[in-house]
Amino acid sequence: MKILGIESSCDETAAAVVEDGRNVLSNVIATSLEEHKLYGGVVPEIASRRHAESISTVVKEALEQAHCTMADIDAIAVTYAPGLIGALLVGVNFAKGLALACDTPLVPVHHIRGHIASNYISSDIEPPFLCLIVSGGHSHIVAVNSYTDFEIIGKTRDDAAGEALDKAGRTMGLEYPGGVSIDKISPAGDETKYKFPTPKVSGCPYDFSFSGLKTAVINTVHNAQQKGEALDIPSLAASFQNSVVNCLVTNLEKVAKEKNYNKIVIAGGVSANSKLRASAAEICKKNGWQLYLPELKYCGDNAAMIAAQGYYEYLAGTRADESLNAYATMPIDKNYKTIS
Ligand code: KG4
Ligand code: ZN
Repeated sequence: MKILGIESSCDETAAAVVEDGRNVLSNVIATSLEEHKLYGGVVPEIASRRHAESISTVVKEALEQAHCTMADIDAIAVTYAPGLIGALLVGVNFAKGLALACDTPLVPVHHIRGHIASNYISSDIEPPFLCLIVSGGHSHIVAVNSYTDFEIIGKTRDDAAGEALDKAGRTMGLEYPGGVSIDKISPAGDETKYKFPTPKVSGCPYDFSFSGLKTAVINTVHNAQQKGEALDIPSLAASFQNSVVNCLVTNLEKVAKEKNYNKIVIAGGVSANSKLRASAAEICKKNGWQLYLPELKYCGDNAAMIAAQGYYEYLAGTRADESLNAYATMPIDKNYKTIS
């Protein structure tokens, strides 16, 4: 079965053709990142305009590279939530038009479910497994019971890990996205030089909190500026990254131990982080667990992951018609069928 995936939830306009949820025939991405760098973050209006300009070319190219026409495509999978609403609407409306014109089934896909599915492309893993999802908007520990059954075990109470890294990077004067810059600069620093508090979260023992850490790094920078002291930016970046990764990996290990998981998956943009990949490998080795990480090219937003998840959603009977809408927020455990 060949699925055409379409993704436009943030600043990447992407289309891909994937066979049977695992075999990538094409994966095309156009990004407006360079323009957003000027503003230190994604400007929603610019992202929407660039999606509208690029989407037909990107989809055409994905079909061409896969040596397909729409007649070869069995279903169109499109990201419908969560994300920037104006950006999502471009992909959703394009997919609706294409599905109607070509009489092709339309399958709505949750963006974060797509991130998890990037692992189906990169390995032969099958549910059930435990997944740590870390992106610009989400930090969740999720039990993936089946391809379409998700249970949230822990989540961030405030900022997502990627968001905290991006904001900290900006305060340190690093280029957007801060998460990428911090990863790049950290090997040149000493990760033990700056001390940050370990965040405490009451209630659910598996939840995260990153806003305290973020405030601590902002205070460190402002205090140094006021006193006219020079900061060791590589060490500050490395120390902050170390604190964020420790929080993520500590909770992940706690859940896996207490709930008896031995297959651990990491997904989302921050899964590209080298410190996180190394720390996750360490805990998995120590406990004898199998670790699955997406290939670096599938960590960030792409449409191959949407087509991969779309295949399993299709098999589970998920379908949309021309009434499909986009949603800025949507819990990962909510199935499209149940949205009223
Ligand atoms: O999944 P993603 O591409 O978009 C969302 O769905 O949010 O994630 C983007 C996030 C950004 O916060 C970015 O800084 C972070 O992923 N990121 C990284 C790295 N690459 C991307 N964070 C740390 N280290 C990286 N290598
Ligand atoms: Zn994403």
